[in-house]
Amino acid sequence: MLLLDRRSLLTACAGLPLAGPLSAAARPVGLGELAARSGRYFGSAVTHLDVADAGDHVRLFDAECSVWVPAWEMKWGALVAKLGAAPDYRATDAIVAAAARRGKRLRGHTLVWHEHLPAGAEGLSSQADWQRFVAPHIAAVTGRYRDAIFEWDVVNEAIEPYDGAANLMRRTPFYAMLGLDYVAEAFRLAADAAPAARLYLNDDHLYYAEDWQERRRTGVLRLLERLVGAGVPVHGFGMQGHLDTRLRFDEGIFRRFLARLEDLGLTIAITELDVTEAPDAGGRSVAARRRRAAAEAGKIVSVALDSPALTGVVTWGLSDADSWLRRRSPDMADNQGLPFDDAYRPTPMRDTLASLFASSRTPHPT
Ligand code: XIL
Repeated sequence: MLLLDRRSLLTACAGLPLAGPLSAAARPVGLGELAARSGRYFGSAVTHLDVADAGDHVRLFDAECSVWVPAWEMKWGALVAKLGAAPDYRATDAIVAAAARRGKRLRGHTLVWHEHLPAGAEGLSSQADWQRFVAPHIAAVTGRYRDAIFEWDVVNEAIEPYDGAANLMRRTPFYAMLGLDYVAEAFRLAADAAPAARLYLNDDHLYYAEDWQERRRTGVLRLLERLVGAGVPVHGFGMQGHLDTRLRFDEGIFRRFLARLEDLGLTIAITELDVTEAPDAGGRSVAARRRRAAAEAGKIVSVALDSPALTGVVTWGLSDADSWLRRRSPDMADNQGLPFDDAYRPTPMRDTLASLFASSRTPHPT
């Protein structure tokens, strides 16, 4: 007979969603719990407002996710408005505290990215600038959250073949300061300050057959081979999952790319899943559009789940009402590309993810 004392019972109940419009018993098993059956996580980008202690938002993020990722609060420009100013950690501290209260693990996003910089950082260009501004930023943030963050997107979007550099690197202030070495330096600084964290390179536009995506895959693999070969502490690769129904998915190409990452000894995460619909999507019924978005996500996630290196899947928001895609341009204002709709009801994408997680036959060893 299984006997539970009061303490174990409270501990066991702590992870259950708060009672909402649906009773806890009627609620389906969360995606985080389903992903955990094969040793993986499911998570979402969150904002500090999403996870403030009230409302439908936090209930959904609590019920569905085992991992949260701050959507913008940890970016350099969110912490430091103007170059040289003191960082403001209030929003990030609030997310860290909310995650601790609800037993969520946190991915950190992101330490080095060319967007969302402090005012004045666009002009940084020398090694001295790196030492004065960038190195202390990386050390401070990773050090402050060394016990709170289990995975970091250390460098985000380093590759851009269209920028014309022979090594396919994106030309950014970081590249101007240290050249290619900025990536290795960023990983070393993060590893020194947060030795237990798993450190990821994170990049986008890697799933499809188009030539421009092939060049991006080449750039990513070359950079990772170089880092791993030099003994830099890089542990994983994050594939932003900003999918697009207008592009051509080729399963063989994607499997080969995953295999190359595995051969480098890296773990793999799908870090920012959502689906951009075709511009003519408005002509179809919402139900048909949602089915199409679900099928697009299903193609990528089902292949990725065949890799034991896959640690987890994170969507970039849960509900379309909060999707960053909708704010990007007027023709995306009603984009349907996330696992919950505007009213926080599950969409076909949620069903697809749930059944793929539940049926995964290739566990990630934890
Ligand atoms: C987006 C956030 O969702 C927005 O709130 C913010 O205004 C801009 O950045 N790739 C990334 C993410 O790596 O950090 C971006 O997040 C989306 C694209």
